[in-house]
Amino acid sequence: MIQQFRSEFPQIEELDKTQTVYLDSAATSLKHKSALESQHDFESNAASNVHRGSYKLSGEATRKYELSREKIAKYLNCSPDQIVFTKGTTDSINIVANDFKNKLKRDDCILISEMEHHANLIPWQQVALATGAQLLYCSVDSNGDLNLEEIESLLKNNSVKITSICHMSNTLGTLNDVKSIQSLCEKYKSKLFVDGAQAVSILRPDLTKMDVDFYTFSAHKLFGPFGVGVLYVKNLAQLGLSQVGGGIIDVVDFHTTSFLEGPQKMEPGTPNISGVVSLGPLVNFLETLNFEEIKHHEKKLLDLCTKELSKIEGFEPIGTSSTKINILSFNFKGVHPNDLCELLDEQGLALRSGHHCTQPLLKKMGVAGCARASFSIYNTKADVEKLVKAVKKSLEMLR
Ligand SMILES: Cc1ncc(COP(=O)(O)O)c(C=O)c1O
Repeated sequence: MIQQFRSEFPQIEELDKTQTVYLDSAATSLKHKSALESQHDFESNAASNVHRGSYKLSGEATRKYELSREKIAKYLNCSPDQIVFTKGTTDSINIVANDFKNKLKRDDCILISEMEHHANLIPWQQVALATGAQLLYCSVDSNGDLNLEEIESLLKNNSVKITSICHMSNTLGTLNDVKSIQSLCEKYKSKLFVDGAQAVSILRPDLTKMDVDFYTFSAHKLFGPFGVGVLYVKNLAQLGLSQVGGGIIDVVDFHTTSFLEGPQKMEPGTPNISGVVSLGPLVNFLETLNFEEIKHHEKKLLDLCTKELSKIEGFEPIGTSSTKINILSFNFKGVHPNDLCELLDEQGLALRSGHHCTQPLLKKMGVAGCARASFSIYNTKADVEKLVKAVKKSLEMLR
């Protein structure tokens, strides 16, 4: 399975030429050839704007763009009318959070968790500042897990109007129990937003079953292009416009405008057409994946890596949740993670170091930063072995 995957990711061949192992898929995944080829083909041979021209080329561009919406909706088991194309996860969260600036009052609460990426923290902080609503945090325990009882106690007085939680933490690797959180939100009448940025590479969300109000992810973390996000909205009629401009109107006069209904109302201006078009062929690839096998493969790499690094003195994993699949954040006592990752880079290992856009979380865990290895479908046991060997060599140099 893995060998076949590797040949379908053209960048692997380039990485192999320089004997580089890519272990930063949590930041962005490598791109699958279906997405690369279709994006290139559209830009080279079929470029035209959407929802505008009456000529055939534009009609075809619109058809392909809308086909991607249909395919993504089918993939996520929802309706195309519930899918908005955005620039990415950050953009999606901002769109929804800004709408809550018009919906919340001083006595309302917003609930997020301590493990959120800055993209799912700062927008809600801004909503709280703008409305006077209170921003509540569900704490992360020493393993890196959330506690459902604590979530329930925070929701209990029915003043939380929106809860926004990551499906999987980009730093701790924790996979959250969205179904249970959804049940609690339903019970206490809070809307639920789920940041799926990290989870979508290891599972196929069934949004009808999950029954959340909002779900989002970036295509670039799911083997697709940069600059495209997918935002699922259960009830789009309740979401106010985020930006206005061309492409979303019914009638405009000098003083008033009437707007379209449906997802198009959230997509003013010229969208990332080639990026969206490439999602169609990407979904064909995604539909061939067996996510149970993928999880098993990535978890095996994670476990091996954790086991081998644990044998080295001073190993400090950041996050030890039993739900982890493919993210290992760590430090070694007395060693700066940036120094470690620089030496790893010199030995052909691409790993991220720093705060991973979770500064408050790391501060709570008592560290300023850490190294992070993240595994994907194209990584192998040999990649882990190379990492472990290089860590040992680097530590000899640093200690
Ligand atoms: C959990 C999580 N949320 C949000 C984001 C932001 O995604 P993007 O930069 O694609 O908008 C990331 C990116 O790393 C992430 O890991």
